[in-house]
Amino acid sequence: MIDQRRADGSLRHLITLEGVRRDEVEALLGRAQHYARALARGSAYNRVLEGVQVATLFAEPSTRTRVSFELAGRRLGAQVLNLELQLSSRVKGESMLDTVYTLQALYFDVLVIRDAEAGVLAHVAAHVAPQVSVLSAGEAHLSHPTQGLLDALTVREHKGAIDQLAIAIVGDIRHSRVARSAYQVFRLLQARELRIVGPPGLLPESEEFPGCARFETLEAGLEGVDVVMMLRIQKERFAATRVPDAAEYFARYGLTPARLARARPDAIVLHPQPMNRGIEIASEVADGPQSVIRAQVSNGVAVRMAVLETVAGRLAQ
Ligand code: NCD
Repeated sequence: MIDQRRADGSLRHLITLEGVRRDEVEALLGRAQHYARALARGSAYNRVLEGVQVATLFAEPSTRTRVSFELAGRRLGAQVLNLELQLSSRVKGESMLDTVYTLQALYFDVLVIRDAEAGVLAHVAAHVAPQVSVLSAGEAHLSHPTQGLLDALTVREHKGAIDQLAIAIVGDIRHSRVARSAYQVFRLLQARELRIVGPPGLLPESEEFPGCARFETLEAGLEGVDVVMMLRIQKERFAATRVPDAAEYFARYGLTPARLARARPDAIVLHPQPMNRGIEIASEVADGPQSVIRAQVSNGVAVRMAVLETVAGRLAQ
């Protein structure tokens, strides 16, 4: 397991939610909730990261995650620089670690990294200087910890205590880092029931997601749940010939109002975005009264503020 802590036990990196304790998750969510309320009031500004230099390095496309990390840092008084990895020297063959050593020599304090290759984040975290924190903004199919936290915050805000809830994660679970981090946080917070729902080819290996009931039809998988988390088909993570046909997928696994009616009447619908309307979700649902998809985006800023404040702890204390 990746060591994400300092010698005093405090969180230094956030690369995965695996190994993060429940009290730490509760503290992060509590802080995020505080910032979410302040954001809604228009007063989420402080200087706890004054003088802190944050770099974002995204080797895969991103809109919400990158922008919300940047806004979160700025609201806490940090300076944030976005590096376009495609344009920088990585394309000339410089390894991620060399790029990171350069940023370290330029006195960056926090590196926010998204990478398509599993293991790169842990490798970087194991080699950076002790004063540098590494935050994952999404790693391959493995992990997207701030997304997991923002999903938990959104569910808690709309539905209350997670331990009372039945939650269905639906779609391309096999290739989804969002599903893995959501599973970890919901399990840690002891969701009453966790389900994974999708076509057999998109469900994970049987040893993954222990404790989850598996469903291969949406109709059965959604029966009576409080929370429906939809996922995008991660086309970029499998061979082109094996990508499911869009129309066929929607016919069997698309979330339509009729299918959503199987869930509890007060169920909420999440989607990390980008959404493929008419493939995994119908517009009537995405824009409908049960959708909390836009609240997820707002909560992304609050969660990233909480995470940045927590790992740059010397300044927050
Ligand atoms: C997700 C990602 O990149 O993992 N997007 C996000 O961060 N909100 C989900 C996806 O790309 O499907």
